[in-house]
Amino acid sequence: MQKNNKIAFLGTGYVGLVAGTCFADKGNEVNCIDIDKDRIEILKSGKIPFHEPGLQEMMIRNMQKGRLTFSTLDEAKLEQYNVIFISVGTPNDSYGKTDLGKVYDAINYIKENVKTSKIIIIRSTVPTGTCSAIQSIVDEDNDINHIVCSNPEFTKEGDAVNDFLNPDRVVVGIPKGKEIKAFFYNLYMPFISKEKILFMSNESSELTKYSSNAFLATRISFINDIARIAEKLNANIEEVSNAVGMDPRIGPHFIRAGIGYGGSCFPKDALSLVNQANEVGESINVLEGAIKTNNYQILYFLDRVNKYFQKNNFKKKVTLFGLSFKPNTDDVRESRGVMLYNLLKKEDFSIRCYDPMNLKFISKPIPYYQNIEDSLEGSAALIISVEDEQYKNLNFKALKENGIKAIFDGRNLLKDMTEELEGIDYFSVG
Ligand SMILES: NC(=O)c1ccc[n+]([C@@H]2O[C@H](COP(=O)([O-])OP(=O)(O)OC[C@H]3O[C@@H](n4cnc5c(N)ncnc54)[C@H](O)[C@@H]3O)[C@@H](O)[C@H]2O)c1
Repeated sequence: MQKNNKIAFLGTGYVGLVAGTCFADKGNEVNCIDIDKDRIEILKSGKIPFHEPGLQEMMIRNMQKGRLTFSTLDEAKLEQYNVIFISVGTPNDSYGKTDLGKVYDAINYIKENVKTSKIIIIRSTVPTGTCSAIQSIVDEDNDINHIVCSNPEFTKEGDAVNDFLNPDRVVVGIPKGKEIKAFFYNLYMPFISKEKILFMSNESSELTKYSSNAFLATRISFINDIARIAEKLNANIEEVSNAVGMDPRIGPHFIRAGIGYGGSCFPKDALSLVNQANEVGESINVLEGAIKTNNYQILYFLDRVNKYFQKNNFKKKVTLFGLSFKPNTDDVRESRGVMLYNLLKKEDFSIRCYDPMNLKFISKPIPYYQNIEDSLEGSAALIISVEDEQYKNLNFKALKENGIKAIFDGRNLLKDMTEELEGIDYFSVG
C-alpha cells in the first residue's frame, strides 16, 4: 500500500506547482514554497499565476482537502517534511553556461535551517555533476545524512498536468550506496508501472534530461535545414516530413518545419549541454549545428518578409500572431514571436501583435491585442509565429478586404489551404 509522504517544494513555478499539485492529488501532504511573496498570495487565494490547463481545478480540490498548502520561504517549516524537492529556475548566464545561483541559494537555506536528515530531490534541470557536488556540500554536516537525488522534469507546458499524471518514464538518479529505491517506487507507482521507473546514477539522470531536450531540438533544426533545401529544389517539406516520419524508426514528432524552437527549456538546455561538453574537452558538433540552424532560421524568414515589402513597396505595417513560445501557454521565454517582434522593430516595421493569452512578460512587455480584428487594422501582411489551430478558422475573405496582401506562415499551419488563401500571397517554410 502507498505510504503518503510529507513533501516540500522549493520553487513554485511551472514545474513546482504542477508536480506539487499532482503529488497532493495522490494523497501526499505537499507544501509549495517560493521566495516570491506575491506569487504565494495568488496561490493562497486559489488562483494560479500562469496558464496551465486543468491545474487550477486540481489545485483547489487539494487545497480544500488540506493536502496542498503554500508558504513563503519565511513561513516555511521545512523540518516537518521528509522530502524536499528543488524546482527553482536554472537560466543560462551570458556565455550559455547554466547559472546555478538559485539552486545553491535553496541548498544553503536547507543547510542553515534543516537539522534532520531529508531526501533532497533536484527537479530543476542542472548540469551533469551538480547533484554529486550538492551531496558533498550537505555531507559537510557530519551528523545529518541528507540523500541528494536527481529526478528531472519531462512535462510540457500546456499539457503538463496530463504529462505528469501519465509519464512515459520516470528518471531517478541516486547516489552510490544509498538504499532509496523503495521510496521512489512508493512515490511514483500511483502514476506509472514499476518497470518504467528508471534508476541510474545522478550523473546519468542529469545527462538524460539534457540529451532528451537536445535531441528534440536537433530534430527540429534538421528538418528546418531540409526545408530550406526543399524550397530551392522544388520539393514540399510537409510531404517530405510526413513520409519520413512514418518510418517507425524515426516517428512523426518534432519534424515539422518552421521558424525554429524557442521556450523556457530547449534554447538554454542545448547551449548548456554544448558548454558542459566543452568543459570536459569535447564538443557536440551535431548540437552546435542545430543551434546555428535555429539562430539562422528566423533570420531567413525575416529576410523573406523584408524582400517582399521592398519589392512591393508596401508601407511596413504587419500583424504578428503569437507571442507565447507555443500554443496553450502564457510563457514568452525565448519565444520566436518576441524575437520576431524585436527583429521587425529593428527593420522599422510598425507591428500590431495578437495573442489569446494573458502573457507573462519577464522584462519589457510588448503591447498586444487579444482581439484579432483590432490587431489586423492597417496591416499589409500577417505573420504567424505559433501553430495555434484557431488561425485555420480565420475569415480569409475579410482579411483580404481589410488589406492583408500576404501571409508569412512561420509554422506551415495554413499550407494545405490553397483555396481559402486565393488572392493572398502566401509564404510558408519549405
Ligand atoms: N517550465 C517547464 O516546462 C520545465 C520543464 C522541464 C524542466 N524545467 C526546469 O525546471 C526548473 C524550473 O522551471 P520553471 O519553469 O518552473 O521556473 P519558474 O521560473 O517558473 O519557477 C521557479 C520559481 O522558483 C522560485 N525561487 C527562486 N529561488 C527560490 C528559492 N531559493 N526558494 C524558493 N523558491 C525560489 C522563483 O520565485 C520561481 O517562482 C528549471 O530548471 C527548468 O529548466 C522546466
